[in-house]
Amino acid sequence: MNLSGFLFNNYKKTNNNGVVTWSSPSNIALVKYWGKKEHQIPENPSISFTLDACKTITEVTFETKTNNETFSFEVFLDEKAKPDFHPKIETFFKRIEAYLPFLKDFHFTIKTRNTFPHSSGIASSASGMSALALCLMSIEKELSDANLTEEYFIQKASFLARLGSGSACRSLEGDLVVWGHHPAIKGSSDYFGVKYPYQVHEVFKNYHDTILLVDKGEKQVSSTVGHNLMHGHPFAKQRFKQAVDNITNIKEILKTGNLEAFIALVESEALTLHAMMMTSMPYFILMKPNTLEIINKIWAFRKETGLPICFTLDAGANVHVLYPQKDSEIIYEFIKTQLVGYCQNGHYICDRIGFGAKQL
Ligand code: DP6
Repeated sequence: MNLSGFLFNNYKKTNNNGVVTWSSPSNIALVKYWGKKEHQIPENPSISFTLDACKTITEVTFETKTNNETFSFEVFLDEKAKPDFHPKIETFFKRIEAYLPFLKDFHFTIKTRNTFPHSSGIASSASGMSALALCLMSIEKELSDANLTEEYFIQKASFLARLGSGSACRSLEGDLVVWGHHPAIKGSSDYFGVKYPYQVHEVFKNYHDTILLVDKGEKQVSSTVGHNLMHGHPFAKQRFKQAVDNITNIKEILKTGNLEAFIALVESEALTLHAMMMTSMPYFILMKPNTLEIINKIWAFRKETGLPICFTLDAGANVHVLYPQKDSEIIYEFIKTQLVGYCQNGHYICDRIGFGAKQL
C-alpha cells in the first residue's frame, strides 16, 4: 500500500464519546534496528520475537470537545497523572495527525499500565506506543463509515506505532515480525511491520526469553540519541549491509532450526549494536560488569553442556537469555542458580514468544 492508503477520508463527525482498551506486548529484536532516517524510516530491516508477558495495557476514553485547534489529553500511568509523558505524546499526535484527522476533535484520557515495573530498564515504548496506536485505530473504526478490513487495521496501527517509536511497529502481531524493506521478505516495508511470512521450524515455537535485570536505572542514552549517532558513523554503511545479510541468513536458520547458526547470528547482532555505541562519537559503554559476567557464564555453560542457550541485548545493560522449550528445564535451573545473582536485587522476568496485541 502507498502512504495515501493510510489517510482517513470517510470520517463522519459525530458527538461520539467512548472508551477503547488494548493490551500490546514488547518485542526483542534478533536482527537489530539501529539507525534511522527522517520520518522514522529505518536504515536497515530488523526482525523480532514478539514477547508475551511484558506488555502495556492502555485504555483511551474520548470525548467530543468544541475547540478543535489544539490536542487535548491527559495521561495516567498506574492511575497517577504523568505530565512528563505529554511531550512524547504531543510529538506522536503531530506526526500522525495527517492520518487521523479527528485527533483535535476529542479530549483523550489515556490510562496506561505495564505488566513489568516502569523502572526495570525495559523499554516500554514498543508496547506503549503500539497499544496507543491500536486504541486510536479502534476510534478510527468507530468513526468510519467504511468497513475496515483486519489487514488494513493492523497495518495502519503498525504504521502509526512506528511514528511513535520504531520498534513499536513490530509489537502488534506474533510470533516473528519483520520491519524494513528486504528483497527476500515478501511484503516487507519501511513503513510498517509484517508477520514473518515463511516456514518456521518447531524448535522456535514457544522459545523462552528470560530477561535479567542487571541495571534498572534510567537509560544512559535514549534510543533517539543512539540512532542519531549512526549518522556519519565510520562503520554505519557496513553495519547496515550486515543487517541486510543477516535477514537473508536468518530465513534459512528459521526454516531449518539450525540453532548453532541462530546463536552465532543473534549474539553477533547484540554485540555489534553495542560495538556501534562504543565506536560512535561521543562513545558509550552500555554494558555493566555484570552484563559481561552473565555473558561469560552463558558461554561457559554452553561449552560445557552443548545446550543451545544464548543471549541478546538491547541498548542497555540487561540481558535477554534465549532458549528453546525442549531444554528449558535445565537451562532455567542454570539461570536461577548461576545468573540471577548478577541481577539488581535479584530481579528477572520470565517471558517467551507471544502472539501479539489483543483488544480488551
Ligand atoms: C536497540 O524503537 O526505541 O531496541 O524509533 O527512536 O523510538 P525510536 O527507537 P526504538 O529503538 C530500539 C532499538 C533497539 C533494537 C530493536 O528493537 O530493533
